Amino acid sequence: MSLYAIGDLHLHFQSELKAPGQLRDPVWRNHEAVFRQQCLRLVQPTDTLVLAGDHSWGRNLAECEKDLKYICSLPGRKILLRGNHDMFWDAKKTEALNRQFAGKLFFLQNNYAAYQDYALVGTKGFTFEGPFYMRGGKIVDWDRDAEQHAEKLIAREAERLTASFEAALKDGYSKFIMFLHYPPTSILERNSVFTAMAERYGAEQVVYAHCHGTHRFHDSLEGRHHGVMYHLVSGDFLEWMPMRVL
Ligand SMILES: [Fe+2]
Ligand SMILES: [Fe+2]
Repeated sequence: MSLYAIGDLHLHFQSELKAPGQLRDPVWRNHEAVFRQQCLRLVQPTDTLVLAGDHSWGRNLAECEKDLKYICSLPGRKILLRGNHDMFWDAKKTEALNRQFAGKLFFLQNNYAAYQDYALVGTKGFTFEGPFYMRGGKIVDWDRDAEQHAEKLIAREAERLTASFEAALKDGYSKFIMFLHYPPTSILERNSVFTAMAERYGAEQVVYAHCHGTHRFHDSLEGRHHGVMYHLVSGDFLEWMPMRVL
């Protein structure tokens, strides 16, 4: 029994492809088939696979039907996190999605999933992504209004993550793996409300995605930081091979 994670499948079986980079970059060529093959070799039916957001380019559930069907057909128990591109997943309708896909997919937000004696907790997260103003290759300033707006979204996501941790605590869990779609810190930070929560609740690992392309892979924490292990699992970073978490 193993726990795996990967993010950012960005499927588009029905919807129009939104990112031209997906067509140009060789790592995205036929990535659905590559990922499926690697999953079939690696993931056993008794394993758990966490998909850390940005599942589909579809703008609503109808446009994601084939993408979600593809995800359902992957081996193991599938747990999904909400990514910034997951327009089909209204934050207020997580429970409805869990009812609709009961026994097939589990949508992780304001709740938790049990894995052995661990609680898998998570939320989309958020982080300030600029605009940054550069001089001589260095960041000298940034858009303060955008930063203020980001802070509101971060606070809301921190509330959702608290609900996830607290639900697990209430049920007696004391071991946690924490999942985010966004990286836990911006490129300006080493610590954030999310790293503080991981430390406070004693999460052993923080697993996040969202960072695409070699120039973005090292935007946030990797490896051990204040006693917590941080891992980036975006699909193109992992070349579509799920990372073993436990
Ligand atoms: Fe993404
Ligand atoms: Fe994303």
